[in-house]
Amino acid sequence: MNVKIAPSILAADFARLGAEVAAAEAAGADYIHVDVMDGHFVPNLTWGPHVVRAVRRVTGLPLDVHLMMEAPERYLEAFCQAGASILTVHVETCPHLHRTVQQIHELGCRAGVTLNPATPAVSLSEIVPYVDLVLVMTVNPGFGGQKFIEGILPKIRQVRAMLDAHNPTAELEVDGGIDTDTAGRVVDAGARVLVAGSAIFGHDDVAEAIRRIRDAI
Ligand code: DX5
Ligand code: ZN
Repeated sequence: MNVKIAPSILAADFARLGAEVAAAEAAGADYIHVDVMDGHFVPNLTWGPHVVRAVRRVTGLPLDVHLMMEAPERYLEAFCQAGASILTVHVETCPHLHRTVQQIHELGCRAGVTLNPATPAVSLSEIVPYVDLVLVMTVNPGFGGQKFIEGILPKIRQVRAMLDAHNPTAELEVDGGIDTDTAGRVVDAGARVLVAGSAIFGHDDVAEAIRRIRDAI
């Protein structure tokens, strides 16, 4: 089974960011996950397009940019120009979600949509045919190192069924609390891209950490 691993640089050593990304790439990571937080939609702040541009220079891997921000349409062009490959927006922040997805495609990026833990799968029903990726949050967004919410597993299965029926080539990604303990369960529920921050960059040996997650699957 082809399961992709997307290390989240939120848990990396920022003083050695280039080396951390290179280590993840050498260890067989499939995407680099970049968490953008605005201090409004989520209670934390990270970075903007300049960090995406810096990471773009040190890896050939697709950059999977997770936009935890209000009105993300204001920054889509800047993130695409900085080298993002996938731009994922929260359904909770996009009243004109179809337009936002169209904008992402017009800019030449792949479009993802994501759901907070309390947002039901049915909120995707009209947008599913248009997206390249659905991200199901398995923690409340804003911080790394949180505990996986077990109650999300049925929603992963629901989204898997929606994609199988209406958009089988779109990817199903999960994010938050993914480690050797939870990876098998989310894959069993239908996830095929696993974001992991602390379970990868929290270890001294990034390659060993990725290998352990793959073994757990
Ligand atoms: C949480 C972020 C995640 C975070 C995951 O808001 O979207 O990508 O980095 O971190 P872990 O894997 O430590 O839960
Ligand atoms: Zn994320």
